[in-house]
Amino acid sequence: MTGGIGRAEAPAAAALLRELLPPALLPLFDTSFVRLHLLYDEFIHRLVLGVVRETGLEQAMREPGTPTEIATRAGFLSGQALVPLDWMLRHLTARGLLEELSGGAAFRYRSLGPFPTLDPAPVSEEQKRLDPSWMPAYTLAETVARDYPAFLRGEVTGEEVLFSPRRLRLWIDYFSNDNGLYAVNNRVGALAVEQWLPKSGGVVLELGGGLGSGASALLERLETVDRLGAIAEYRFTEFVPAFLRRGEQALRTRHPGLSRVTFTPLDMNRPFGEQGVAPGSVSIVYAVNTLHVAHDLDFTLGEVLGALEPGGRLVVSECVRPQARQPIESEFVFNLTETFRSPRLHPPDRPTGGFLTPGQWKGAMEAAGFADIRFLPDIVRVQDQAPRFIAAAIGATRPL
Ligand SMILES: C[S@@+](CC[C@H](N)C(=O)[O-])C[C@H]1O[C@@H](n2cnc3c(N)ncnc32)[C@H](O)[C@@H]1O
Repeated sequence: MTGGIGRAEAPAAAALLRELLPPALLPLFDTSFVRLHLLYDEFIHRLVLGVVRETGLEQAMREPGTPTEIATRAGFLSGQALVPLDWMLRHLTARGLLEELSGGAAFRYRSLGPFPTLDPAPVSEEQKRLDPSWMPAYTLAETVARDYPAFLRGEVTGEEVLFSPRRLRLWIDYFSNDNGLYAVNNRVGALAVEQWLPKSGGVVLELGGGLGSGASALLERLETVDRLGAIAEYRFTEFVPAFLRRGEQALRTRHPGLSRVTFTPLDMNRPFGEQGVAPGSVSIVYAVNTLHVAHDLDFTLGEVLGALEPGGRLVVSECVRPQARQPIESEFVFNLTETFRSPRLHPPDRPTGGFLTPGQWKGAMEAAGFADIRFLPDIVRVQDQAPRFIAAAIGATRPL
């Protein structure tokens, strides 16, 4: 039973968003989206409870402990377990199942158990009934959950769990505009590029273009508003060869008339110049949910700044964390990857891995030399009143 999760809450939350979001974003975040988001959050919660049960974690949390102490008690001896465990502890605290004790150098946690046993299956069935387009997000999370205990015990790496060749299909279905959960990031990003594209247009360089869904949403949007002609060249780049090949294939199939598009590998952790991107050669650098996995965000922002012509813009669409330490449901999956959980840290703008807050984005971009940092929507104001809202585009300009 799901008890109609989100059914009562969603209309009021969507009404609030109607007051806070600009009109262009309203069709994306309607009552149905809000309800499905709540449902997905519940699904992740139930998967977490399953992992806690299976690994004996609840026992390990009966006495107060820091994440490191709890990891030791539970037998999670490899370092890779710490960030995901810390996320689970914050998630369970937010759900009222743990007590968080501050004081001392690290937070300590204690179970307020017993924990409920909640079956994820009815949530997934309800999702399928309401909108099957979100199922790729469910399949991915469910697949990950099955391997979580082995990952926490250090028997398998997150990369093996997520990126084995037999799991490519999961990503093809997930990073897609047919996935109702993921598509909003692409649509918010496309609207931001449309709004922030210089009148004269120019060359666009996309980083981490992956399977092409971000590029496809952007090209469709520019075509709809008759601005495709403003793109002198679209340089689609990606780091993972299998993604790059698939991304090119998908874009060529979806947009057969596409000209002025190139497909090349680019690693955002290495100097752009040695990878064929000349200084000052692009008007827009675009990236959907990619920059937060840069190993050294300051370095990558510096490379982006150097690649842009004066007055050129960086536009990123990102999942934006409302408050530091606030757990975001998709981190249950992405915490498995080392690039996500363990980038080079630069306090105060990069104090942890994972998603950044609006203030951290602004700080990091300004520190790299960007000016005129903008958000679509005005995310600080939105999150102030709707703290579960996490999708935003961020724009920044290379000064003249
Ligand atoms: C959230 S996905 C973006 C998905 C993409 N927008 C799409 O529509 O398929 C993040 C992307 O960043 C890429 N990535 C990871 N490390 C990278 C690196 N060092 N340089 C460039 N891209 C990288 C990943 O391979 C992945 O495709």
